[in-house]
Amino acid sequence: MFIKELELINFRNYLNLKIEFSKGLNVLYGQNAQGKTNVLEAINFISSLRSHRTNKDRELIKWGKNKAYIKAHLNKSLGDFTVEVLIPEMSKKEAKLNGIKLSRASEVIGNVNTVIFSPEDLRLLKDGPDVRRRFIDNELNQIKPRYHYYLSLYNKVLLERNNLLKKGIDRSLLDVYDQQLAEYGSFLIFNRIEFIKKLSIICKLLHRKITNGKEELIIKYKGDILDGDINSIKERLYSLYKNSIDEDIKKGYTSKGPQRDDIEVYINGVDAKHYASQGQQRTAALSLKLSEIEIIKGEKGEYPILLLDDVMSELDLQRQKYLLDSLKDVQIILTITSLNDLEKFNISRKKIFEVSNGNIEIKEF
Ligand SMILES: Nc1ncnc2c1ncn2[C@@H]1O[C@H](COP(=O)(O)OP(=O)(O)OP(=O)(O)O)[C@@H](O)[C@H]1O
Ligand SMILES: [Mg+2]
Repeated sequence: MFIKELELINFRNYLNLKIEFSKGLNVLYGQNAQGKTNVLEAINFISSLRSHRTNKDRELIKWGKNKAYIKAHLNKSLGDFTVEVLIPEMSKKEAKLNGIKLSRASEVIGNVNTVIFSPEDLRLLKDGPDVRRRFIDNELNQIKPRYHYYLSLYNKVLLERNNLLKKGIDRSLLDVYDQQLAEYGSFLIFNRIEFIKKLSIICKLLHRKITNGKEELIIKYKGDILDGDINSIKERLYSLYKNSIDEDIKKGYTSKGPQRDDIEVYINGVDAKHYASQGQQRTAALSLKLSEIEIIKGEKGEYPILLLDDVMSELDLQRQKYLLDSLKDVQIILTITSLNDLEKFNISRKKIFEVSNGNIEIKEF
């Protein structure tokens, strides 16, 4: 899959932008705070309907304006298609697919596949479990049709259950919540386990390649329930909620369930979060991200668009080369502050844009 053209109106520091991308490598260069990441953020937004930088959509709207608009012309092997998203300040987001308005904006999720890699992702192993859960959820939102829907239902009921635990409880209402959480949560856990299984196989191979056979990477899902079909997960999850009620009342929140799950990563048999060097952790994060690309290709039959935000300068030369050389069939949009960083690579199909204060000019293609 690739994006042919992006149009932005009142998005971040862009008043009105139209930009045509190449199918291969696109380089957005410019000084700090000019709007490079904003472009990647917009492309990622039409994929997931959320920003990778903020939970507040209103931050995406240009200051002084009341709505932002993103339109993208894309291509898949099946043909061209367009996606439009409107982000109003006061009302709900709206989305169109091929010009037709969707009844819920979230229905657009899954049509555009992207993998975004920014400096924060290099800390994927080091940071808290929420970051790794988001990594799994983002991927599953793209490849599993109902995942996003179940995740939002789960989170909604979880919030209500937690409120009830804090306020003083009504046990019959709590049981209704537990049944709903077990229903939605079992879908999440089942799909996460399947995903981690696939991820661990691909990641192990890729990591071996990137490290020239020096390191073995093992990934494991960490949670209260680690196997089973969806019904058995549902039953066990329901019992977990039931059995932890006293603890939950004491704590004032729900202590068991998929909202607590995590991934464990081992490099050469050792827990990477606590013992791997910074360089090893970054390389493992790179392997995880690259595996994400392969999984999307496997599930969707198309490579996602790869958005690389400022990561080149954070990786050593060997890793940078690997990144650009191993992804010849993937459309890449990367941001960089100095073009000198690219000179050492021999890349043929590339288009270079200069980004300056909310304006973008083509420099070379
Ligand atoms: N809602 C908004 N309205 C107008 N301008 C905004 C808005 N949000 C952010 N900006 C501006 O966008 C600019 C930041 O853009 P962006 O993060 O894309 O920079 P960048 O080119 O990626 O910089 P760096 O190289 O530092 O990462 C800042 O100047 C910021 O003030
Ligand atoms: Mg940036």
